[in-house]
Amino acid sequence: MKHDQHYWQKRYAEHTTSWDLGHASSPLKSIIDKSDHKEAPILIPGAGNAYEALYLIKKGFNNVTVLDIAIQPLLQLKEKITNATGIHIIHEDFFEHQGSYDLIIEQTFFCALEPRFRESYINKCHELLNTNGCIKGVLFDFKTTSNEPPYTATKKEYINLFQKKFNIIKLDRCLISEDTRQGKELIIKMKKND
Ligand SMILES: C[S@@+](CC[C@H](N)C(=O)[O-])C[C@H]1O[C@@H](n2cnc3c(N)ncnc32)[C@H](O)[C@@H]1O
Repeated sequence: MKHDQHYWQKRYAEHTTSWDLGHASSPLKSIIDKSDHKEAPILIPGAGNAYEALYLIKKGFNNVTVLDIAIQPLLQLKEKITNATGIHIIHEDFFEHQGSYDLIIEQTFFCALEPRFRESYINKCHELLNTNGCIKGVLFDFKTTSNEPPYTATKKEYINLFQKKFNIIKLDRCLISEDTRQGKELIIKMKKND
């Protein structure tokens, strides 16, 4: 794998983490604010510094799993949450993960994966979700020619990819993106097909 654990740990070690907003993003806060099932098992894969997990805990959610292949952000998160309950931190490859969730939160994880893993991402999310489970979050939809993440896609490509396993409830221009991401994100709600 081109972007393996070593690649991501190096990015954190070298502080080349331009994706890291330093706070929970507006679209994800909005999604969380509209969710009211506080006991729902929630997974944040490729969570990085997981500011959204801290926001979920602050809002009373009590079954949040944070998963990343890189250890550094998870150690940093552990330091921040010494007294918090309801949060599970897992250092693991997403594709090896076993579990069952009502909600998977997506933000800059899909685009971190090489395009050849897109179908595997969709299949794995489908496997990890309970009946009626959803992926909610944001996806980039601008074009890049770079050989490095973010590997973006178009709305049409997302439809083709997700519709095989998910009912696309929402795939709309995000109007509340962070300044640096204005006009570059789609807000999504994908409900698992049985
Ligand atoms: C672009 S960063 C996004 C981090 C976070 N979602 C955010 O918005 O700040 C991608 C993250 O995915 C993690 N990652 C990449 N491949 C992974 C895999 N196969 N399993 C779990 N985490 C992975 C990286 O270590 C990195 O933290």
